[in-house]
Amino acid sequence: MNTIKIDPQRTIGQLDRNVFGGFAEHLGRCIYGGMFDEGSPLSDELGMRQDVLAALRELRMPIIRYPGGNFVSGYRWTDGIGPRDERPARPELAWRTVETNRFGTDEFVDWCRQAGTEPYLAVNCGDGDMREARDWVEYCNGAQDTYWANMRRRNGHAEPHNVRYWGIGNEVDGPWQMGMKTPDEYARACTEYAKLMKMVDPSIKIVASWTSGWFQDWVERGQLLMEQAGKLVDYMAIHWYVGNREDDFGAYMALSEQFEDRLTASAGLLRAMSSCLKLQNPVYLAVDEWNVWYRTRGDDQLAEVYNLEDALVVALQMNAFIRHADTVKMANIAQIVNVIAPLVTRPDGLLRQSIFYPFAAISQAAGDVALDAYWEGETFEGGGHAGLRVLDVAATCADDSAVMVSIVNRALQGVAATVALQQGEFAGAGEATVINGSDVHAYNTFEEPDRVTARTSKLSASGSTLTLELEPHSVTVLRLPLRR
Ligand code: AHR
Repeated sequence: MNTIKIDPQRTIGQLDRNVFGGFAEHLGRCIYGGMFDEGSPLSDELGMRQDVLAALRELRMPIIRYPGGNFVSGYRWTDGIGPRDERPARPELAWRTVETNRFGTDEFVDWCRQAGTEPYLAVNCGDGDMREARDWVEYCNGAQDTYWANMRRRNGHAEPHNVRYWGIGNEVDGPWQMGMKTPDEYARACTEYAKLMKMVDPSIKIVASWTSGWFQDWVERGQLLMEQAGKLVDYMAIHWYVGNREDDFGAYMALSEQFEDRLTASAGLLRAMSSCLKLQNPVYLAVDEWNVWYRTRGDDQLAEVYNLEDALVVALQMNAFIRHADTVKMANIAQIVNVIAPLVTRPDGLLRQSIFYPFAAISQAAGDVALDAYWEGETFEGGGHAGLRVLDVAATCADDSAVMVSIVNRALQGVAATVALQQGEFAGAGEATVINGSDVHAYNTFEEPDRVTARTSKLSASGSTLTLELEPHSVTVLRLPLRR
């Protein structure tokens, strides 16, 4: 028997909804043919794909990072503004294509407004410089009678875009990055970029690029960044991608330990540095690229097919973010459409991949306070770990009136579980959403779009315990109202 104990007063911290963010890059068919498809009957007159927007609204993503990724390290944002037909095409070096620049800053902000999400822009800290970065802030947020603010007005946007979140560079620790930087080079650059960008608009939030390769220098990078830029930076960004390349289900499910380890270690370093530097401002973690990625190569760049086990691992990552809600204040699934993404488009329609469903269920049900759930029960071995709990659990509370419990059953069999409320009582009519498919390798296609899907049913819970049978290899998201 597995027992999950929830106490609505045993809290971890406020859950920032920005942990349900996304990421869109000029890469493959994410922008062109995904979000933006000029001339498609599925697009509006601006070229925005309406089916993609509608599906993304279901994911309730409050923030989307743009325009890269590796792309941003060679991007000139000024190419992507003004009359579309006059914009220059450039060689795109990160992904070896040609960038037409028909979609740029104004299109992205307009798209975000339609999607009901907030833009988060990353500036070029690769082959770009801090002047371009400060000019971009002025273009987006300037309210005075100045050159770039007036340029935005001339381009049809009288009101400032008010972009609040700004990232400085992308994966600067990676040799694959144009303009890769040593720990000290980046700490210096980030400090000066952040200083100038905040001079233009002191209200913006700065996200520094910390680690993506998890190389031996990641601690040194974090330390130098905090020492030099700690007073200017609001978030430190980390990235990771995982996958089941060895086709070892146990090891794949045991990746929860890696997520825990990285988040605990990074949060610890931020806390230690904040303490020793006596920082008055909080510095949070932003996992601003995360997902499953098999690095599939083909003509349709980074077009990944996701199966049920990938959906379980997406839920494990989201559960980890909720359990670290006191430090992780932003996370962006990479990416949103066609490129390592929950959504895939064709000229005539849209497919929801397996990973769409846990993201939607957890994002829709999560309350605003993360709870410190306790659970015990059956265990498994995998990836060199023994004694891992078969269930992976995260919980939230909303206004003391309902709890959300997200449970990943990592067993290939069904298991019984009891959810025990340690204070108060359940108040009857709740709901359970179960994400599952015939087997862990099942995946959706345009012909069979519902092999992996979500089923929501009513669930009545009263008193302080609820017993349920969790389906094999499944994600279950419970929404349980509480008696006040
Ligand atoms: O999301 C795909 C790529 O993965 C991004 O461009 C880069 O930042 C990361 O390596």
